[in-house]
Amino acid sequence: PTIYLKDYQKPEFLIPEVMLDFALNQASTLVVATMQVKRSSGSGTPLVLHGEKMQLVSLAINGKTLSDAEYQIDAESLTILNVPDAFELEVQTELLPHLNTELSGLYQSSGNFCTQCEAEGFRRITYFLDRPDVLSVYRVRLTADVVDCPVLLSNGNPVASGRNDDNTHWAEWFDPHPKPSYLFALVAGNLEHVTDHFTTASGNKVELNIYAQQHNIEKCDHAMASLKKSMRWDEDVYGREYDLDIYNIVAVDDFNMGAMENKGLNVFNSKYVLANQDTATDLDYEGIESVIAHEYFHNWSGNRVTCRDWFQLSLKEGFTVFRDQEFSADMGSRAVKRIRDVQSLRAFQFKEDAGPMAHPVRPDSYQEINNFYTSTIYQKGAEVIRMMRELVGVEGFRRGTDLYFDRFDGQAVTTEDFVTSIEQANDIDLAQFRLWYTQSGTPSIRVQQSYTDQTLTLTIQQSCPATPGQDRKRPFQMPLCIALLLPSGEKVLQQTLVLTEDEQSFEFSGLPEQPVVSMLRGFSAPVKLEYNQSDDELLTLVSFDDDGFVRWEAMQRLCLKLLLPAVENGSINEAAYSRVRDAFLKLLTEPCHDKAMLAEMLSLPTASYLAELSEAIEPRQISLIRQQCVQRLAKDLESPFHTVYAQQGQNTDFSLDAESMASRSLKNRTLMYLVATGQPAYYALASHQYHAANTMTDRLSAFTALVHSSYPDRQALIDHFYQQWKDDPLVMDKWFAMQAIAPRDNLLPDIEQLMSNPTFSINNPNKVRSLIGAFTSNLLAFHQQDGAGYKFLVDCVIQLNTINPQVAARLISTINNWRRYAQPYQSLMCTQLERLANENGLASDVTEIVSKALK
Ligand code: ARG
Ligand code: ZN
Repeated sequence: PTIYLKDYQKPEFLIPEVMLDFALNQASTLVVATMQVKRSSGSGTPLVLHGEKMQLVSLAINGKTLSDAEYQIDAESLTILNVPDAFELEVQTELLPHLNTELSGLYQSSGNFCTQCEAEGFRRITYFLDRPDVLSVYRVRLTADVVDCPVLLSNGNPVASGRNDDNTHWAEWFDPHPKPSYLFALVAGNLEHVTDHFTTASGNKVELNIYAQQHNIEKCDHAMASLKKSMRWDEDVYGREYDLDIYNIVAVDDFNMGAMENKGLNVFNSKYVLANQDTATDLDYEGIESVIAHEYFHNWSGNRVTCRDWFQLSLKEGFTVFRDQEFSADMGSRAVKRIRDVQSLRAFQFKEDAGPMAHPVRPDSYQEINNFYTSTIYQKGAEVIRMMRELVGVEGFRRGTDLYFDRFDGQAVTTEDFVTSIEQANDIDLAQFRLWYTQSGTPSIRVQQSYTDQTLTLTIQQSCPATPGQDRKRPFQMPLCIALLLPSGEKVLQQTLVLTEDEQSFEFSGLPEQPVVSMLRGFSAPVKLEYNQSDDELLTLVSFDDDGFVRWEAMQRLCLKLLLPAVENGSINEAAYSRVRDAFLKLLTEPCHDKAMLAEMLSLPTASYLAELSEAIEPRQISLIRQQCVQRLAKDLESPFHTVYAQQGQNTDFSLDAESMASRSLKNRTLMYLVATGQPAYYALASHQYHAANTMTDRLSAFTALVHSSYPDRQALIDHFYQQWKDDPLVMDKWFAMQAIAPRDNLLPDIEQLMSNPTFSINNPNKVRSLIGAFTSNLLAFHQQDGAGYKFLVDCVIQLNTINPQVAARLISTINNWRRYAQPYQSLMCTQLERLANENGLASDVTEIVSKALK
């Protein structure tokens, strides 16, 4: 069934207080929920509670057990026909967490109990009004075996605990902040923890704990340091303080997403907690810092102010992603962070916008809410917030967020409430801007320039393609940050243009020389840019622009002038190639001030971006041409690549400071090119780096370069890595992924072989993503011309449909844009999607993706 925003109605009942009593047991768990229920509107209507995938044991109102005739129950709800206007409801349910492979509700991971309730998992724990606009104060009591579960955690502050005489013990937690059920959490198990503390700006001392399995406990320090930085940053930048005595984080190996912001008790995918220099790469460290921050920032943007309904998901996610992006930018290189975020937006969100699941940042309808934890909600949502900040300025934005937090604290609100806060705090009109929330699709802007009489005229047109359910679009309001550079590099003007019309002209006079335009600085709007700047103009930007994003983008555009026609024609244009080669040479030989940026500048546009820009995607061609260009650059620039490699030193400083990380990044970028020459001397160099490495960054980079090359001892290297790391699941994730994305043909047998490796498990989402998910991104191997890759994918999805529908749905989404591919890929994908559609017993998650894909 489809749920519509227009059908939203306020809840008829509220549950201001709830007490949950869990008897946790390996075989089955008994839950007694005691709720204070109050009618808030209507009269005489029945109470309808959400509930699924559990056993109702008993039901009582004001202490009196209900007979079977007094309620009705179906697969998704419980209806109590006659209820008073205010009463106590007691619900007893029985759960089987050890059999819960969907990882939603109460489940077990490595034998420990944990929960995931967002979006609709709480209804698998007890019958409840499982909707975000019903806020309750929770008291939770946990009882479990002392030996199996020495640790008993829930939301809020601990209030009491004790021993029973049957080898069990108990703990009670109380969370004073009213919250929706999706923020409920419990954890019970055999866990160790590291502890620290943080003193808030107003002087409250907060205890900070990170829990992990004992063998991982020495990998929690970076997460702890990141948490403290996040807490300080949110005070400094947004004036937001933490509001409980304790903040707990728990790392679990089996988790559907990245992490979850449950009040006072975050549950994390261990990938975003555990790190040391032996097992985690610099990228992993950055990922941990940003996800720890993201979940912490939710304490205000999500928990204190929450969502009225799930159509408002971007209210908390878009805003919180924007907050974590800016936090990371402040902690490291702002330009590199922006480049990575734009790359990811283009790879995932632009793809989504161009496919059958395209939806606005505030969707109008959905079938399965789990399918709407999307790049559009998260990443495009963050871009929309970023544009508002650009329009009102940093100070005006802070006034707006202050007003928002102040006005809506303790409430469940809408994206409209956020926009209104920004508007009212700045006395501006964002009526047209709101279209970013309701219109889907990626807008394009086309820029034309002319220069006469010392005047530069920029004519800018915008358009947005049709998307499902939206044939025609109105023009967006968007900030376009620009600057004008003289050919000498001098910046003569910088300003933010505001585009509001389908077509608009902007004039800049008094320019004795024709300037070079630095357009869309900082990627100030999430659009595609069509702007034919000459090679010379692009090279001026590469050399002189003080906006890191534009400098990088200019280099990318120069490379696209080589790659896109080459993909189309099947051959490389020599003139275009020389221009890219010369630009690379210049970058490699000029004095370098920013190694992290240089590493980014030396990367060709990703295969996924090339696919995104293609009219009809030729996946194999994209992969082959890109590889050819890498190899030619490698051969032609071997010596400068080697010089830069050697300058970084074999074993750079072990540490995580920006300088060391930048040096590793540049070193490993150049190593990739050196290995791509195919020369034995560079195989030896990489092999030496692999064996001598003192960080996982250096080890994995050398490993990847060799595994992706024609290195004759590849298999021995793969085996060596395996022997060394087979006991570390997060490192094995990398081992699977690097093999799955190797740019070579006939990889499918290897993938199938890897699925029977003892460290692989189809029940573990990280493993599915790192092997099967990574394989689907392999433009050469996945897109076999006999369709075997697609058949393999659908076989996996059919298997996962019963094990974990959320993961199954994500996986099949990778080919839901099948119409964008050239033949024969398009028809072969369609055939497999049809086969899947004809399966019996598809979960609603999978059904929504497949039916929309085939419509
Ligand atoms: N709110 C979490 C985050 O972004 C995501 C959890 C969503 N989980 C899910 N199963 N849909 O931080
Ligand atoms: Zn989030």
